[in-house]
Amino acid sequence: MNDTLIKVEDLCKIYNPGENEVRALDHVSLEIKKGELVAIIGQSGSGKSTFMNMLGCLDVPTSGKYYLNGTDVSEMTDNELSEVRNHEIGFIFQGFNLIANLNAIENVELPLIYRGIDRKTRHELAIESLKMVGLEKRMDHKPSEMSGGQQQRVAIARAIAAQPPVILADEPTGNLDSASSKEILAILKKMHKTGRTVILITHDNGIAAQARRVVRIMDGKIESDTINPDFDQEEA
Ligand SMILES: Nc1ncnc2c1ncn2[C@@H]1O[C@H](COP(=O)(O)OP(=O)(O)O)[C@@H](O)[C@H]1O
Ligand SMILES: [Mg+2]
Repeated sequence: MNDTLIKVEDLCKIYNPGENEVRALDHVSLEIKKGELVAIIGQSGSGKSTFMNMLGCLDVPTSGKYYLNGTDVSEMTDNELSEVRNHEIGFIFQGFNLIANLNAIENVELPLIYRGIDRKTRHELAIESLKMVGLEKRMDHKPSEMSGGQQQRVAIARAIAAQPPVILADEPTGNLDSASSKEILAILKKMHKTGRTVILITHDNGIAAQARRVVRIMDGKIESDTINPDFDQEEA
């Protein structure tokens, strides 16, 4: 059985090639297996979001290879890439990116419309995922009527509603207080426990310590890739 989900080899991303070029990713090689919970940690500007954009097929590398489920991403058509983004990956961002004039359930349902899911199923999936993040009592609230932590929970519900196998979270707790951050981490761990692959990007050592595997990135290079000896699978 091949349980490799992500394999990148010598991945480079250069912004503004030429005099003012920025080497945001500099020969990154990494493998992630299905069902892993991996934290990618690095300081601001180290290349984390650039890496997430590559992994999520939101942007293309300057050079190097990316295999997703064994398929060379550079050979996928635009249609295949949008299939991957819509069906395989749930994205969570630091700024929750909710639509202000839609309530929680409408925000969660929105991407399901683009996937061509019928109204009744959309509604059921949205309710199920809002329950999963503990927001069953806030379903008809608009973003402005919720705390930051609640808004991020809506964004997570939106990311998981279609039950994608992979969750990519870029600094999901970056705008939150520590109590809300804990809640969000607990939800991500629950996703991991139900078999999802979770890639958690952060600049915070305390958050990275919650993951079994920690990949440290610095100046676009992988500095270390370690298994956390204190990680308790049961507790997680
Ligand atoms: N669109 C872009 N154009 C030019 N430079 C960029 C762009 N996006 C990011 N960078 C630069 O690439 C480097 C890595 O950025 P980024 O991946 O956003 O880091 P992080 O998410 O770790 O803060 C930084 O030096 C940043 O200024
Ligand atoms: Mg970033």
